[in-house]
Amino acid sequence: MNICIIGAGHVGLVTGACFADLGHRVTCLDNNRQKIQSLKRGAIPIYEPGLEELAHRNSRLGRLRFSDKFAESVNEAEVIFIAVGTPPKETGEADLTYVENVARQIATAMRSYKLVVEKSTVPVETGEWIKRTIQAYKKRQVPFDVGSNPEFLREGSAVQDFMHPDRIVIGVESQRAKNLLMELYKPLKVPIVVTDIKSAELIKHASNSFLATKISFINAIAMICEQVGADVLKVSEGMGMDRRIGPSFLSAGVGYGGSCFPKDIDAFIHIAGKSGYDFQLLKAVREINEAQKRRLVQKIEKALWILNDKTIGVLGLAFKPDTDDMRNAPAIDIIAMLQQAGAKVKAYDPQAIPLAKTLLKDVQFCQAPYEVARRSDALVVLTEWNEFKELDFVRIKKLLRQPVVADGRNIYDPKKLEQLGFRYIGVGR
Ligand code: UDX
Ligand code: UDX
Repeated sequence: MNICIIGAGHVGLVTGACFADLGHRVTCLDNNRQKIQSLKRGAIPIYEPGLEELAHRNSRLGRLRFSDKFAESVNEAEVIFIAVGTPPKETGEADLTYVENVARQIATAMRSYKLVVEKSTVPVETGEWIKRTIQAYKKRQVPFDVGSNPEFLREGSAVQDFMHPDRIVIGVESQRAKNLLMELYKPLKVPIVVTDIKSAELIKHASNSFLATKISFINAIAMICEQVGADVLKVSEGMGMDRRIGPSFLSAGVGYGGSCFPKDIDAFIHIAGKSGYDFQLLKAVREINEAQKRRLVQKIEKALWILNDKTIGVLGLAFKPDTDDMRNAPAIDIIAMLQQAGAKVKAYDPQAIPLAKTLLKDVQFCQAPYEVARRSDALVVLTEWNEFKELDFVRIKKLLRQPVVADGRNIYDPKKLEQLGFRYIGVGR
């Protein structure tokens, strides 16, 4: 099938490369010409395991192309995915200007039947608006359908998530649209939930909100664990073995970040409010998440007495491992709080340093964890990269000025570190 994907960002690129790998002919469009030029040269602008290989292979096979020619690319395709950004406004509400703009452009360009599918995370009823927009702006009497096909791709495993999803959600209003989307995903052989467009839109926000709720729930439990001397790792293990609860998304830590959860939770609170429901549960989820970052800084301060003029070594800047993405990374807020208290910050991340240099001020970036530890008053882990799990703590102890380890992701064994003479600060243990 011929597909066009508008928006060659994280979601658009992965979706495009994967659809091409399933045998479809895909054109990725983007209004950023520079981005398209470098994609044409084979440069993949994001770090995502397996993506580069997939993109190169399918480009060579002629199944994946990049273009900035809007009308041409749209008209070559029958199914068009909208994967442009939906950034938050100050109120937390999603800004749908790009989506609307793309819908208008499609309307003016299309010369034959199109199925226009929203892939970006959008508020419920966006599909309705896309439909009205295309109807209002289309130049020719051609039929079209609108559909919703939310993505559930995690960064760092997006290709894997695309190829082996738990389910695919399709929101449609016509048999033709349903058949087209079913056909597109047929090679994956996974369960497909077919529903109306509004329900599909809600499934995305409800799923992300529920996952964030799990994280904040276990972070709240972690706080109680600290007060009473229990171990949150054991608590979550015991809870997670109940199949009704499940073990995933029960890792306590410095809170969730990334391009989706914080933004989607804000947006969903806003959507609920607009529909007349005050989503207090989600407001608490958000508050617990903010508190997690403050609490870690408070614990470091308690261990060092005074933060002013202390040097804090930070390991991990990305919002989670296996990505260089720092959007809403807890590290950004935590480093700002440390600096505000007068501390100097040194930092290392296996992937995110180039980006971090553009985002963080007055941070000394290092080439390796041991360099971070040298003459620091505390070592703070904010992202659970594998390479941090196997550090030589005998060496680290010699390098640190004070033997304090704040393990914001619970990756170390407190007993082992304490035996080596460290003061260990974890989350909920
Ligand atoms: C974005 C949204 O943030 C997310 O909510 C949604 O689920 C999917 O789309 P992501 O792919 O990570 O996620 O965004 P980003 O990396 O910012 O990519 C968006 C791309 O769209 C950019 O390359 C941008 O240049 C392009 N774009 C934006 C267009 O092609 N046309 C526009 O009008 C606006
Ligand atoms: C998320 C959703 O999982 C995905 O389905 C959606 O399409 C996009 O948003 P992503 O943001 O890539 O994906 O990362 P995810 O692995 O979900 O982690 C989000 C954040 O939660 C990270 O900061 C991570 O560190 C944190 N997290 C996750 C926890 O703190 N504890 C956990 O148990 C799990």
